[in-house]
Amino acid sequence: MVVHNGIFENYLDLKRELADEGHIFNSQTDAECIPHLIESYMNNGCSLEEATRAAASRIDGANAVVVLSRKEPDKIVSFKLGNAGGIVIGYGESEMLLASDIAALLPHVRTVAYLAVGEMATVTRKRVQYTRIDGSAVKKSTARVSYGALTATKGEYKHFMLKEIHEQPDAVLDTLRITLPDFPFSDDRIRSFNRAIIIGMGTSLHAGMVGRMWIESLAGLACEVDNSSEFRYRDAVLDENTLVISISQSGETADTLGAMDLAKSRGARQLTLCNYEGTQSTRVADGVLPIRAGLEISVAGTKTFVCSLVTLYALAAYLGVKRGYLSEERLANIVQELLHLPEMIGQLLSDQSQYERLALKYGRRANFLFLGRGKNYPLAMEGALKLKEISYIHAEGYPAGEMKHGPISLIDRKMPVVALVPQDDLYEKMLSNVNEVKARRGSVVAVAAEGDKHISEKADEVIWIPKASANITPILNAIPMQLLAYYIAVERGCDVDQPRNLAKSVTVE
Ligand code: AGP
Repeated sequence: MVVHNGIFENYLDLKRELADEGHIFNSQTDAECIPHLIESYMNNGCSLEEATRAAASRIDGANAVVVLSRKEPDKIVSFKLGNAGGIVIGYGESEMLLASDIAALLPHVRTVAYLAVGEMATVTRKRVQYTRIDGSAVKKSTARVSYGALTATKGEYKHFMLKEIHEQPDAVLDTLRITLPDFPFSDDRIRSFNRAIIIGMGTSLHAGMVGRMWIESLAGLACEVDNSSEFRYRDAVLDENTLVISISQSGETADTLGAMDLAKSRGARQLTLCNYEGTQSTRVADGVLPIRAGLEISVAGTKTFVCSLVTLYALAAYLGVKRGYLSEERLANIVQELLHLPEMIGQLLSDQSQYERLALKYGRRANFLFLGRGKNYPLAMEGALKLKEISYIHAEGYPAGEMKHGPISLIDRKMPVVALVPQDDLYEKMLSNVNEVKARRGSVVAVAAEGDKHISEKADEVIWIPKASANITPILNAIPMQLLAYYIAVERGCDVDQPRNLAKSVTVE
């Protein structure tokens, strides 16, 4: 019996060979080829472990595989080729467990180890032996998971997503406790960086887009941001003076791992932001910035997004100080405001009746537009992603300046537009965009700072956020984006925590 995640690229050749040997296939899948291949070695006298090792050495592509056999029922053999699918091994009292994701193990174990690319594990009830697929020994260290089974339950909440949204004040507090004692680069090295590139996918990419602007403005370091899936296949020019910062809450996203491999091969220095110690991305990077959001189960990332933002903000300030770009005084202001962040998020979570009302009013619309500028443009992207991901409403996030270059033709009475209108340098420009939408009879749901009188005269609805600096506002704006998507998805009767066609960790390309 085989559990398989990945793509067995050369399976057709091997299938032909096995069929010639007399193996009978019942499907067109590449997965079915794996047990036949292992069986073929076992028929020639190999043990389950030897047969699996031999089979693994003939499989091309990125694959994670777990194997059981009736002939050796006390054993599970597993291997990982390339960046496809995590394999986590859990160390119980009198049992060993295997899973693709840590959340599945939490009700049973706290000590885990991750299989790395090219490794194999042979697991019995009491022990596990790690080797490389070529047979050489592997010394594996385990990680202790700080959250328990309780974290993996919904408690008083209807969905994990809502629970995780509510955990954000505590999660941010935990993230703020990070010190950077193990920062892997010397002050000289930090000063030698002439460019940073942030990579990630989906929600992590959106966090990176905000991070880029903080790194430019607080650290004076030129910064780009790219989808890992694009970055890994373009001919990126990198060297030892390039700092690549990857963001992946799971640490197992195949495209981000592929992009990190490329960055490594081209000599760039790497930092990674990750929520789980010991995962693949944390082993590739030179240094790890833990985002400390705690276990996140809902497919839609919420607290990991906010904690990634907080970590990036702190990182930008740290780089700024080390590079002599950020004054002690500005740093003190940043720290002071960050300390109030959990409280401000708590305030945003205190009354959610407005979102239920908005969900009733707009939840049946077919399309949504999200607009923002500057550091809030990525938040518009994130708001649109959250909405489409869990409510299946088509939504687009745009930099508001793009409106006149196309999207404005979509605006009519049926189009709700969520406009992020903080009182920053771009406030007046956002107000004009709101006017443009209203002039075409679109409905505007504005997200604005408390006390803003102009916006309440213009918008159909206003979601108020606490007054804060332009740097902190995008973090606060994440909460209305999450709650709006959540309540609309609930109103539409969607499976909030497990949206169709999506997985929490995207471990294949
Ligand atoms: C977030 O709501 C999504 N589920 C998805 O975009 C996610 O952020 C993306 O797959 C990246 O995951 P990672 O952070 O684990 O790398």
